[in-house]
Amino acid sequence: MDKFVIEGPTPLQGSIPISGSKNAALPLMAAALLGDSPTTITNIPKLRDIYTFNNVIRVTGCKVDFDEEDGILTIDPKHLSHLEAPYELVRKMRASFYMLGALLGKFGKAKVSLPGGCAWGPRPVDLHLDGMREMGADITLDQGYVIAEAPEQMEGGTFTLEPSSVGATVNLVLASVLRAKEFTIKNAAREPDVVLLCKKLVEMGANIEGIGTQTLTIRGVDTLEGIAIRNASDRIETGTFMIAAAMHPQSNVTLTNVDVDDLGGFPETFSKTGADMTINKDTIHIKAPETINPVSVKTEVYPGFPTDLQAQWSTMMTQANGKSSVTDTIYYDRFSYVPEVVRLGGDMDVEENTVHIEGKNQLKGASVMSTDLRASVSLVLAAMVAEGHSDVLRIYHLDRGYEDLEEKLTNVGANIKRVAQEK
Ligand code: UD1
Repeated sequence: MDKFVIEGPTPLQGSIPISGSKNAALPLMAAALLGDSPTTITNIPKLRDIYTFNNVIRVTGCKVDFDEEDGILTIDPKHLSHLEAPYELVRKMRASFYMLGALLGKFGKAKVSLPGGCAWGPRPVDLHLDGMREMGADITLDQGYVIAEAPEQMEGGTFTLEPSSVGATVNLVLASVLRAKEFTIKNAAREPDVVLLCKKLVEMGANIEGIGTQTLTIRGVDTLEGIAIRNASDRIETGTFMIAAAMHPQSNVTLTNVDVDDLGGFPETFSKTGADMTINKDTIHIKAPETINPVSVKTEVYPGFPTDLQAQWSTMMTQANGKSSVTDTIYYDRFSYVPEVVRLGGDMDVEENTVHIEGKNQLKGASVMSTDLRASVSLVLAAMVAEGHSDVLRIYHLDRGYEDLEEKLTNVGANIKRVAQEK
């Protein structure tokens, strides 16, 4: 298991290229299975979750070629015949559950392992299953697997997502575009990842109405064709580096290859910190403020504040002058990073689904460990402004979701080394 050894504090100065988005890529990869010809996706990051999903897709018989150098993925569904996603792979990454919608939609049959829990608590899939039942599929559970079957054409109907869910919207769209007569999803997710998926399915030949709104109506078509797709740039990585750039008063950073239209309300909230921000076509320039204003946030569905940036935001707030709070309304238990930032000197206190922060805290290097992807990156952010030496353990989480993290940060002045850790 590798760890990061970080010496701080260091200002960040220079340019950071934003990678392709993992969360946008995964639904597009699942959609490629629905075509009758190969789909090519560019701007694909070299991340462990992408490799895992490539292997999930390969199990079905599809041909998957990943040109890692150029970030180009080609998926040829011609020999897709094994309609199963096994536990060994699904347990490594929850989004493998998208195979349920893709296989059911294309072949009317699927056997997909239930994903199980996650580091920050239960993450149910009841809405995925109930929505497919409403559509007309027969869904049963057997020894940890979902067995799904559907007739040549399902009647469809209307299903309301409560709460709104990215994953359930994706799965229901995948299941219906080829196989439901008419299916309406209410309170559908409007995250950029969902919008991109729907737009690309329409290019493949699908009939989807209401893209970008909370009501999607899908009318099944007979066939879809493979296409060429540019994957979106990672909006969470963008937000993470914007936060990193604000945390040291001498930082001055330009982010490139940004999809600025995918950031929702985040830039406006971010500007309240006092950071100087200039947004151009696909670049964002950040100059850190002399002192950070405390800004309280509450996570919400898109275009609200993303839950995937709450840990990073709270960590930045330890460097703000004054009190702030961060509330997560999407995932109530997503605060495992707090005791670790406290070890570095953060003055933070969790009360139900809110963390209260009282800054500014002089952070000091320490050994810290984390339990998930966004928690891990927050510890890196904290360690980069902490005085002295920090060890950030269990960085395999970061390899799931941040491409070339230490290289990107080292190039702008951070002092980060990856060290193989003895077992
Ligand atoms: C996706 C993202 C994840 C992000 C999350 C919220 C991917 C691969 N992952 O996860 O990074 O943190 O969106 O923006 O894109 N829920 C149910 N029943 C269900 C499904 C969800 O109750 O069947 C609830 C969840 O517990 C949660 C809320 O709905 O409270 C939103 O979850 P959801 O949008 O589904 O998250 P994911 O798609 O798993």
